[in-house]
Amino acid sequence: MTRQLELPSYKEQSPEVRERFERIYQRPVELDVSGIGKTFNTPQGSVTALRDINFQVHRREFVCVLGSSGCGKSTLIRILAGLETPSTGEVILEGKPVSGPGPDRGMVFQGYTLFPWLTVKSNVMFGLRMSGKSDANAESEARLWIELVGLSKFEDAYPHQLSGGMKQRVAIARALANQPRILLMDEPFGALDAQTRAQMQAYLLQIWQNVEATMLFITHDLDEAIYLADRILVLRANPGEVEEIIEVPVPRPRSLDQFLTPEFLATKQRVEELIHPKKDAADDKLPMLRFTKVGDEVM
Ligand SMILES: Nc1ncnc2c1ncn2[C@@H]1O[C@H](COP(=O)(O)OP(=O)(O)OP(=O)(O)O)[C@@H](O)[C@H]1O
Ligand SMILES: [Mg+2]
Repeated sequence: MTRQLELPSYKEQSPEVRERFERIYQRPVELDVSGIGKTFNTPQGSVTALRDINFQVHRREFVCVLGSSGCGKSTLIRILAGLETPSTGEVILEGKPVSGPGPDRGMVFQGYTLFPWLTVKSNVMFGLRMSGKSDANAESEARLWIELVGLSKFEDAYPHQLSGGMKQRVAIARALANQPRILLMDEPFGALDAQTRAQMQAYLLQIWQNVEATMLFITHDLDEAIYLADRILVLRANPGEVEEIIEVPVPRPRSLDQFLTPEFLATKQRVEELIHPKKDAADDKLPMLRFTKVGDEVM
């Protein structure tokens, strides 16, 4: 199989991109993942979901993890969250080893995980109360986070009264309310329609600009990863390993107009090649089972 060359490093990109990466790399390492592996033992045998994953994320960097279904993205983020123990390796967050869940990490998942019996405000207050804040303090802080995600008018609404995008904005506010060092997101916009999804991506970049948190965002959407990330960690499957780490050469601030720029398209082409390597067209053919009585060919 012929492979394109890797994208040029940030050092060979435009001055604005180069300077941006120089600033990022000068910041301290927030998350240090070394030698992470995970093998699940199942009745059908053992499954190696991840093998020897190594990468570092700098403070307030935005890293996307991209890979096809089943390559181990959720397993990786669950290990970072402390919800799963790795079989090998270590995760260090701000110099401390991760050994379980902690308030230094916020999580947002694809499914809507708000408490349906609590209002928007009470959902956001939940974690603040758990961390020992008085009701009055929790309430005033919750209001600020709700304002940050633009939902002040809905603070007394219940989750079923909100759209999918609004629910995920509440989930982001709830995760940020404990002021985590890093926000871990596992396909948070995966269940949204295309238009809402694009809007949420833009909101997320605005939110990120205004908070101290580092971002780790899992997706299998190429455009989403390129639009959001400073760097993209591309995983390959079986077992999940780091295929390549891409320094996205698209300047910030990002906008939808950039989707057709040469840098965006070159990145997309490279990522596409890594994620969907060209194979024989015959591999895509399904077996010929016909369930129609109509003789016409539709193609
Ligand atoms: N608890 C478990 N027990 C056994 N195998 C598991 C478990 N969790 C994940 N796996 C296996 O590990 C591999 C990676 O799964 P994972 O859910 O991390 O993939 P993913 O990249 O998040 O996929 P998707 O894009 O579909 O969400 C898969 O082969 C899956 O079957
Ligand atoms: Mg997953």
